[in-house]
Amino acid sequence: MDILLHIPDPAAEAWRVAFARALPEAAVALWPERSDARFDYAIVVGPTVEHAAALGRVKAVFNLGAGVNAFWRIPELPPGVPLIRLEDAGMAEQMAEYAAYATLRAFREFAYYAAEQRAGRWSPRERRDKAAFGVGVLGLGVLGTRVAAALRDLGFPVSGWSRSAKAVAGVRAFSGADGLAAMLPDCRMLIVLLPLTPATTGLLDRRTLGMLPGGAMLVNLARGALLVETDLLEMLDRGHLAGAMLDVFAKEPLPRDHPFWHHPKIEITPHVSGLTQIEPSVAQIAGKIRALERGLAVTGIVDRERRY
Ligand code: NAP
Ligand code: GLV
Repeated sequence: MDILLHIPDPAAEAWRVAFARALPEAAVALWPERSDARFDYAIVVGPTVEHAAALGRVKAVFNLGAGVNAFWRIPELPPGVPLIRLEDAGMAEQMAEYAAYATLRAFREFAYYAAEQRAGRWSPRERRDKAAFGVGVLGLGVLGTRVAAALRDLGFPVSGWSRSAKAVAGVRAFSGADGLAAMLPDCRMLIVLLPLTPATTGLLDRRTLGMLPGGAMLVNLARGALLVETDLLEMLDRGHLAGAMLDVFAKEPLPRDHPFWHHPKIEITPHVSGLTQIEPSVAQIAGKIRALERGLAVTGIVDRERRY
């Protein structure tokens, strides 16, 4: 079995070693050392135009990430070849950590106490009503469901939104445009874990952000283009939103002159909320390759119509 591995990263050799160990029956080649060969499977970090020809002959393309929005820029992605994304592979735990930090930080007012410390003031506040601190999760997929469950287990009233109706224990589930409009007014925190598709691009604009209650916070862990960045700035500057934690941006790396860098109500992280982990990712993909070789069905195949 021949596997093409395209990882434009200094860790590429570590990935090759891990795949060779997990699939000893396979010959694993790093792009471009065997760029013209016939491959059974391709494992890539996003698409590149150069290996479109090689992809046309593979049995499946595996993306080393959960989001696949970058693939639609490349028209050469062969229509008959399944595109398979990572499912969790160590990312859900990271997302739950990030979302729990952001939510607890806001709920327990740690930014306020940090400012009071800097000012040399001892000024305790009353405990807030947790039952009134609703947390909304946009996207109840692999990552969003884990995040919703983690926040539910911390005692927050959690609601979640998805395209199709979902049932998650202890989480109020909403779907569709009406569901979003019904859910947002109760969300003091809004955590975004949607895929970037034609249906979700620009979803977080002044209209939807305006449906959040005054003083709400936005946490975007998914893709930057889900958010209309100028609308967020407007909602923060008008005082409708209290703050935002952003891990993803329309343009990455975030340009040096972008207003988010120094905005007092915005905290940014450099696309690290769910980092791809070598061992669980290799184990997941190797398991799926073995299943495909045995003619079995696998999960994580991207729906090209829905684009996620
Ligand atoms: P997933 O399992 O495919 O879940 C996507 C969820 O979004 C599903 O619940 C889906 O609804 C919902 N959804 C899709 N389109 C919708 C629409 N138009 N309206 C309402 N709901 C919609 O994806 P995942 O593995 O949880 O990953 C989510 C995203 O996180 C990825 O696409 C990626 O962009 C991002 N991500 C970011 C990082 C990072 O480091 N920042 C890391 C990993 C992933 P249904 O359940 O009805 O299908
Ligand atoms: C990272 O952003 C991913 O989609 O896995």
